[in-house]
Amino acid sequence: MKVSVIGAGNVGATCAEYIALKKIACEVVILDIKENFAEGKALDLMQTATLNGFNTRITGSTNDYAKTANSQVVVITSGIPRKPGMTREELIGINAGIVKGVTENVLKHSPDAIIVVVSNPMDTMTYLALKESNIPKNRIIGMGGILDSARFKCYLSLALNAPASDISGMVVGGHGDTTMIPLTRLASYTGVPVSQFLDEAALKKVSSDTMVGGATLTGMLGTSAWYAPGAAVAALVDSILNDQKKLFPCCVFLDGEYGQKDICLGVPVIIGKNGWEKIVDYKLNADEQAAFNKSADAVRAMNKVLSEMKTA
Ligand code: NAI
Ligand code: 2OP
Repeated sequence: MKVSVIGAGNVGATCAEYIALKKIACEVVILDIKENFAEGKALDLMQTATLNGFNTRITGSTNDYAKTANSQVVVITSGIPRKPGMTREELIGINAGIVKGVTENVLKHSPDAIIVVVSNPMDTMTYLALKESNIPKNRIIGMGGILDSARFKCYLSLALNAPASDISGMVVGGHGDTTMIPLTRLASYTGVPVSQFLDEAALKKVSSDTMVGGATLTGMLGTSAWYAPGAAVAALVDSILNDQKKLFPCCVFLDGEYGQKDICLGVPVIIGKNGWEKIVDYKLNADEQAAFNKSADAVRAMNKVLSEMKTA
């Protein structure tokens, strides 16, 4: 199994590391435009192999896409990250050009690859990658909801003083501070609704902490986070390569599902060897559906910026 990761920065290198540590693939290629940067990251990671007990071969490439040939999965993390005070949306101009060029290059060498889009604003970049590549929709997956859900479950576990592994919960909608929707009603602590343990104010705080989860870390770190994003990508790649059929919230093309059309947005999907294989209907209540529609409006407005830039 071969995975290529485009962009050897914080998220790209971390997801390569988790893929190796968890023995998800036997080969990982990291590619970056910065001369020798990906090669350096790959060599550093390979020098952890005997210490961390993995056999994955990690190699780097400076913009040579031939080295990514025949990848089953390609993860796009190339682009600029958020700086404190920036929204994900402010990255659109620069990252759109990068994602478009990268998608073209990737598909020349791995025409059958499943593409995972991470670069922000992720919902719009996923839509762009789909429109530019014209490949079957199930092979383009935006990663944002898995990360947002991990943050949601983390904040719930802290509020409940319970292990995060006992918490189940999902965040759908866009991957933006105001567009994501933590589904508090459906979150549970070993099967019991969390509302039985936390009052409305506590649940509201968990939701709002989740929604600004990325911004909080950007403020602390001076750039956006990488450990949880890298781990979230690795979990997604694992479910694809090992056909695990995990139910994850991912950004996929909607054609009427959840009441939306011609948009890529986060919904619960089954992830397996064919990419996203099925959208699962969570039967949102009226408030949740209204929030989902509002999220779609915001993402659609951002997608419109793309067409105004003549990028999609
Ligand atoms: P970073 O700055 O550490 O790494 C980005 C890398 O992309 C750099 O090494 C840069 O040289 C490279 N790059 C730029 N243009 C390229 C091109 N044309 N071809 C190949 N490589 C190129 O940034 P970081 O923190 O790794 O974030 C990457 C992206 O992922 C950002 O857009 C960030 O906002 C996004 N992100 C998305 C998340 C999500 O959940 N969807 C979570 C965290 C970050
Ligand atoms: C995050 O959520 C900025 O999308 C990035 O950490």
